[in-house]
Amino acid sequence: MRLLAIVGALAILIGVGAAVFFFGGFFDVAENVANPAPIDWALATVRAASVARHAAEAPPAPANLSDPATVKAGARAYATIGCVHCHGGPPDADWSKFSEGLMPIPADLKVMAKTRTPAELFWAIRSGVKFTGMPSFGLAGASDDQIWSIVAFVKNLPAMSDADYKAWTATP
Ligand code: HEC
Repeated sequence: MRLLAIVGALAILIGVGAAVFFFGGFFDVAENVANPAPIDWALATVRAASVARHAAEAPPAPANLSDPATVKAGARAYATIGCVHCHGGPPDADWSKFSEGLMPIPADLKVMAKTRTPAELFWAIRSGVKFTGMPSFGLAGASDDQIWSIVAFVKNLPAMSDADYKAWTATP
């Protein structure tokens, strides 16, 4: 009995302590203050698991993901709807300096292209990713077709030359 009372009292103390810490403003929401390494690890692991599970909700991928016209349409969309500002691209892509102020740092899409399935890419782009700064392009009005074309582009990024990127994203 006494043990149970101690456990109960500890639980209440921890609850009160956490409430004071979070609601009293002690938790630091600053983007420029690094998280402790275990928190960063936990957030990245939870993010990857969540994307992998929810990607099952993505509609079936169209058959034309490596069709050159789709990849080119995706390159153009990538450069015009905002991705390039945060995720960058080849050396002279229209990247924005402010993206260095984001935590976590926007993912290198050449790496993502190899480690994510098309459904995972589609789901992350359409839904956005909480607590990261990655916007929901579905909420922002992008159509599923447009998002699939961006997936086609991202999947082809590792093999894409700088010259192709430049030509495909140029104003028609
Ligand atoms: C305002 C900045 C910003 C913009 C604009 C943006 N992203 Fe992101 N994106 C992020 C950040 C930050 C992350 C989280 C970093 C991570 O997952 O490693 C992220 C994550 C991702 C991921 C990885 C999700 C995962 O599986 O972990 C993909 C894929 C992605 N973005 C693609 C895109 C594409 C394509 C666009 C344009 C349609 C875009 N992003 C626009 C900031 C941005």
